[in-house]
Amino acid sequence: MCGIVGYTGNKQAQDIVLDSLKKLEYRGYDSSGIALKEDKLVICKKEGPISNMEEILPKSNSSLAIAHTRWATHGVPSDANAHPHADADNSVAVVHNGTIDNYLDIRENLEEEGYKFVSESDSEILPILISKYYAGDLVEALHNSLSDIQGIFTIAVIHENHPDEIVAVRHETPLIIGLGNSENFVASDIYAVLKYTQQIIYPDDNQIVRVTPESIDLFDSSLKPLEYVVETVEKYTEVAEKGGYEHFMLKEIFEQPKALQDSQTELFIDNPLEGLSLNWKIGSISIVACGTSYHAGLVGKYVIEQLTAIPVSVDYSSEFRYAAPVQGVGGILSSRPLVVLISQSGETADTLAAARAAKQQGCYTIAVCNVPGSRITREVDGVIITKSGQEIGVAATKTFLTQMQALYVLGTHLAFNSGSLDHPQLKLWESEIRKLPSKITQVLNSSEGIKSLVPNFVNAKSVFFVGRNINYPLALEGALKLKEISYIHAEGYPAGELKHGPLALLGEDTPIIAVAMQDHTYSKLLSNIEEMSARKAPVITLCQKGDQHVPKISDKYFEIPEIDPVLSPFPVAVFMQLLSYYIAHELGTDIDKPRNLAKSVTVE
Ligand code: F6R
Repeated sequence: MCGIVGYTGNKQAQDIVLDSLKKLEYRGYDSSGIALKEDKLVICKKEGPISNMEEILPKSNSSLAIAHTRWATHGVPSDANAHPHADADNSVAVVHNGTIDNYLDIRENLEEEGYKFVSESDSEILPILISKYYAGDLVEALHNSLSDIQGIFTIAVIHENHPDEIVAVRHETPLIIGLGNSENFVASDIYAVLKYTQQIIYPDDNQIVRVTPESIDLFDSSLKPLEYVVETVEKYTEVAEKGGYEHFMLKEIFEQPKALQDSQTELFIDNPLEGLSLNWKIGSISIVACGTSYHAGLVGKYVIEQLTAIPVSVDYSSEFRYAAPVQGVGGILSSRPLVVLISQSGETADTLAAARAAKQQGCYTIAVCNVPGSRITREVDGVIITKSGQEIGVAATKTFLTQMQALYVLGTHLAFNSGSLDHPQLKLWESEIRKLPSKITQVLNSSEGIKSLVPNFVNAKSVFFVGRNINYPLALEGALKLKEISYIHAEGYPAGELKHGPLALLGEDTPIIAVAMQDHTYSKLLSNIEEMSARKAPVITLCQKGDQHVPKISDKYFEIPEIDPVLSPFPVAVFMQLLSYYIAHELGTDIDKPRNLAKSVTVE
């Protein structure tokens, strides 16, 4: 959340940080701002998208700048609450991502000392503290300020007396340093700098870094100088362009065959699973994630349990991190649980905390992640990278499919290791998984049919998504996609559960999306459709090609391509994504940047 970028070098900083900031707008977009070093510091900030701030930004030749795009935590989106924040005489400017837990106490103390505040933001205490402690060395001033504050943060600071210096620190939120030629970058995310450099330093928590055009100095939390490692990261070439699509989300939905294909090359050819130490007897598996990644985890549970008979639990990261220690830990090492953390960004605060809690309890941790080098990939025991390419639309789409695919392959790998799949069966699974891109292409080719369903939803009071077994998580995901981009209230339910309460809500203005695949739950689902129709709710059913029953009992239906029901979550997901997209489009919402949301959730 909140994007941060800073530049110090031999070029005009303004255009570079604006360009980089736009790549981070998906992290937060309620306001933005920039601080530049002229004779004094010049700060320009504005509520709304970056373009609003750009309109009022005077041209500057400064070669030092920090900038910020905000996702509000403390204080409404407004010009005053936008970053950078400064002290009263504008000598220090600070951008901050995160939250300062004890800011009210600090603010009260500073007010008693006579300092004035102009915003409601917790971040405003930072420039005031830094200015108060400043005695000629910006690193020391930041260091002293850190001993006062509690919370999570990435902070970047500039000072009028240090015309080419940015000082930065992180604590549980992301920070990277990009190394250029007589220029260096500070950012909350590698995407901000990849156009300029692939040479990256990843500071650890509480390490303070001083960046000038020609030098990087890293200090530990007692200000002892540290050596640092420079890593070369892969360049993403296709990012940040919509490629003729109206929205990134639509582009990313249509990229799914390629994302699955690229991930298959990673999974089947590069085979990261071989490198994981999974040859012990796994007593249980715990999958931990948030949002859409959590839904991928739920699908993974059905697949892994079906293939291996290993019990799998799936938890929200925000719950797992505060739950009692995992049962059985501390017992026999061979039965310690495997914990699989799923996060496309690799920066989600709760999932990171869950990974740390699991490690502390002695679990073997694996991350399924789309961003190489992200925090989670650096903290867990093993990593499976999904090769979706950068996802810019706030609503997760292609990363969901590649996460599910990674879990299917993990399931077959564990099943083969434990002897429950033999080699020919393993190869059969692989060949079915390899057909997924073409199945997805078939759904994409039917997008007009999905679009034609939109009129059933635009006036809906509420939409219910129902499924059973492996498609119950798809009901949850369908509802999440719809609510986040169309703002229509939606709920996902196991189809058998509606009669335990929600049926009370059904009527003509509550359409239902039912997923009816021909697995062992099929006949039960047909009965559920009858129950819902009897309450006058219009039912639109997803079924398999050639289904004889669904057309007779549903108001509308959509056929997915021929596929084994166990693999049906893939085409079903694409249907859900496109339907939500077209409904949101009809309603005119800001699809790529839905209100109140941000892509990378780095606060609790
Ligand atoms: C929904 C969505 C979110 C994320 C969630 C986890 O479309 O994008 O629910 O799935 O915030 O994010 P990651 O996967 O980055 O940990």
